[in-house]
Amino acid sequence: MYTPILLGLLSLYAASTTSAECTREFLIDATNRYLAAQVAGTSDDFVTLAAEDMTYTENQVPLSITEGVLSEPIVIDHNRSIHDAVNCATFTELIAASNPHPYVIGTRIIFDSASDDDLKISLMESIVTDEGDWAFNATGYLYWNSLETWDPIPEDLRDSRETVQAAGDAYFDRFKNESVVVPFGVPCSRLEGGASTAPLNMTGDSCTAAGLPSTLVVTDRRYVVDEVMGAVDIYLGFPGLDRSQGQDPMPDSHLFRVEEGKIRYIHTVSSCVEDGCGMNGEGPPPPPERRIRPVNKPRVRFWGRW
Ligand SMILES: *[C@@H]1O[C@H](CO)[C@@H](O)[C@H](O)[C@H]1NC(C)=O
Ligand SMILES: *[C@@H]1O[C@H](CO)[C@@H](O)[C@H](O)[C@H]1NC(C)=O
Ligand SMILES: *[C@@H]1O[C@H](CO)[C@@H](O)[C@H](O)[C@H]1NC(C)=O
Ligand SMILES: *[C@@H]1O[C@H](CO)[C@@H](O)[C@H](O)[C@H]1NC(C)=O
Repeated sequence: MYTPILLGLLSLYAASTTSAECTREFLIDATNRYLAAQVAGTSDDFVTLAAEDMTYTENQVPLSITEGVLSEPIVIDHNRSIHDAVNCATFTELIAASNPHPYVIGTRIIFDSASDDDLKISLMESIVTDEGDWAFNATGYLYWNSLETWDPIPEDLRDSRETVQAAGDAYFDRFKNESVVVPFGVPCSRLEGGASTAPLNMTGDSCTAAGLPSTLVVTDRRYVVDEVMGAVDIYLGFPGLDRSQGQDPMPDSHLFRVEEGKIRYIHTVSSCVEDGCGMNGEGPPPPPERRIRPVNKPRVRFWGRW
């Protein structure tokens, strides 16, 4: 016989078990708490979301979350998160240009059901970039980002998860196979470190204007897909990015905005092991609009990281 008290207990039980379901709302709450932790400079509250054996990395180096960048209060000028209820994963881009120490940070968070049926963070990997990383310019990142529109895609225009992910995959497949057709939109622009290809063609496809590799195999692609935002973030290993590291794959994030199957924006975050990625002070390049070619020097290919 159910008494009202027992019913109350049952509904409490129901409420606690539904938390094991990965919903968009659950993930949005998690990214908000991540941002709050970064602003406050403490992971104390945030780690209540983490499994005891969570793996935390920065630029692919495992460390304790209490010793990482979350222990530093950061003034965040811009943030954008995408939420993937199927993979139970999130990706957050944050730009801190007015912070005394400027940063651009990408963070991917994966949730898994722990033994008690609660969803907990099993993996959190941040790519933390600052001065000395490829083309780094947080002010530039903020500026170019401010010219972009990343509104949620109206329901009737939304691509499937598969279409969104396939657009990002085609981009990297093209890195080793020139025959792969990448669905670049018009316009299309790529923002890396703080440098944008947009000035190469403000109204057209500038994603290809700088050329693309054809023999490069990226490694270990990991995805966060959000069809509401028309976005896929791909984490991967980027061989040869840091010239001081030979062909070792470097930690890298590419966030793609896809509209009606076509790539509109690409945002990259990646870190160098050595300042300037081992380019002997030759790089990273300043944003394209500031790159003035001396008249007596031969033209060099835009040597972006793609
Ligand atoms: C993140 O961005 C949203 C949307 O622009 C904004 O409302 C929110 O205040 C930002 N959060 C932080 C911590 O800066
Ligand atoms: C960084 O980007 C801003 C905005 O595009 C630009 O004004 C500034 O000159 C850039 N700084 C460097 C060092 O390239
Ligand atoms: C290169 O891409 C084309 C077009 O997608 C495909 O037909 C071909 O099999 C690919 N080649 C290799 C070696 O993967
Ligand atoms: C810019 O893009 C447009 C549209 O794709 C194209 O027609 C035009 O030729 C491009 N301009 C340059 C300078 O590449």
